[in-house]
Amino acid sequence: MRASARAAWVEQSQRGGNPSSLHTSGRAARAVVEESREEIAGALGARPSEVVFTSGGTEADNLAIKGTYAARLASVGARRLVVGGIEHHAVLDPVEHLVETQGAEVTWLEPDRCGHISVDDLKVALAPAAVASVTDALDVAVVSVMWANNEVGTVQPVAALAAVAREAGVPFHTDAVQAVGQLPVDFAASGADLMTVSAHKVGGPVGVGALLARRDAKLVPLAHGGGQERQVRSGTLDAAGIRAFAVALTEAVAEREVEAKRLTALRDQLIGRALSLDLGISVSGCWTAGEATDRLPGNAHLLVPGCEGDSLLYLLDAAGVECSTGSACQAGVPQPSHVLLAMGYPEAEARGALRLSLGHTSTDADVDAFIAALPGVVERARRASGAA
Ligand SMILES: Cc1ncc(COP(=O)(O)O)c(C=O)c1O
Repeated sequence: MRASARAAWVEQSQRGGNPSSLHTSGRAARAVVEESREEIAGALGARPSEVVFTSGGTEADNLAIKGTYAARLASVGARRLVVGGIEHHAVLDPVEHLVETQGAEVTWLEPDRCGHISVDDLKVALAPAAVASVTDALDVAVVSVMWANNEVGTVQPVAALAAVAREAGVPFHTDAVQAVGQLPVDFAASGADLMTVSAHKVGGPVGVGALLARRDAKLVPLAHGGGQERQVRSGTLDAAGIRAFAVALTEAVAEREVEAKRLTALRDQLIGRALSLDLGISVSGCWTAGEATDRLPGNAHLLVPGCEGDSLLYLLDAAGVECSTGSACQAGVPQPSHVLLAMGYPEAEARGALRLSLGHTSTDADVDAFIAALPGVVERARRASGAA
C-alpha cells in the first residue's frame, strides 16, 4: 500500500461515521465518500454518478456479468454471453455459474498465441445467426473482454471491441483491474458500458474496488439490502477504504507515464537477462526486444522447460523472490494455467510458467537478485521433476 493511501486510511478510520447516517459524523463520512468518488471518476474518465463502489474487482466482475445477464434476460430474453477465453476467474466463474444454473450459453473468443482477442471474431460472434439456435445479437446479454491480462500481460484493443458491441446493441464489460495505473484508461473514451477496477492493484487497500457503470446500464443487484450505490450494491460503504482508494489511484495515475517507462525498461532488462542465461527459457505473450508491444509495463512471464512452476515458485521464494505461476491446484495436483492453454501452449510447456510482476516498489536490485537466483533454482527444479 502506498504511504499516502495508508495515511488516508488511518485518518478516515479514526473519524468513523456511516456515510448513510444523517448525524454529523455520518454526513462528514458521506462528504469524504463523494469527494473520493469525484476523484476516482476524474482519474478514470468517468462521471461520479457512474462509480459503484464494491468490495473489489471480484465483486465488480460478478455484478457486471450476473447483474447484466439478469437484466437482459428479463428485458429482451438474452441468454448468450460472449467472453474472452483468457479472463480472470472473477469473470470466468460467474459465466460458468450462469451456464450451469441459469441456462446461459457462452461463445468464447479464443486468443491468438500472443493473447490477443480478435475484433473480427467478436463481429462474427455478434453477427445475426452466429449460433444456429439464435437469431441475432439481441440474444447476447453481455460481451466481456478484459483490458489487460493478469498472467501474460497482453493488452486488448478495448475501444475497437467496445465499438463492435455498441454497433450490435450489446452491453460491453471490461475488467480493467490490471490496466489501471499502468496504461492510460479512460472509461468514456473506451466506449465500454461497464468497467471493473480494484484498489489494491494501484497501491490502495485490499477489499475495495468499483464497477464503473454508464447511467443507462441496467443491472440487477446481487445482494439486496439498504439500497446504497444506485440501488445496485447494498451495504454500508467503507469510507476509509474508499478514501485510501482515491488517494492511491490519483497518485498512480499522476505518476503513470513516468512510471510506465521505468517499469518497461526494468521488465525488458529482466526478460532479456533471463533469456540470455542459456537455460532454454522463453517469454510468452507479446514481447520483442527493444520494441513497444501490447504488454503491461510491469509484466514479465517466462516459460522454463522441464520444471514445474510450483517448484520454481517455492525455490525462488526461499531465495527471497516472490512470484506466481498462474497454475491452480485441483485435488493437490497443479493444473497448468487456462490462459496459456487457451493461447495454444501444450500442457508440458505451460507447466513451467513463471509470472513476475513489477510495481512502484520494484528496483534494479530486485531484478539483479532474481537473475542471480535463477540458474540454481532452475537446476534444482529440473532435478525435482526428473528432467536433469
Ligand atoms: C484481472 C483481474 N480481475 C479481477 C481481479 C480480482 O480483484 P480483487 O482481488 O479486487 O477481487 C484480479 C486480481 O488479481 C485481477 O487481476
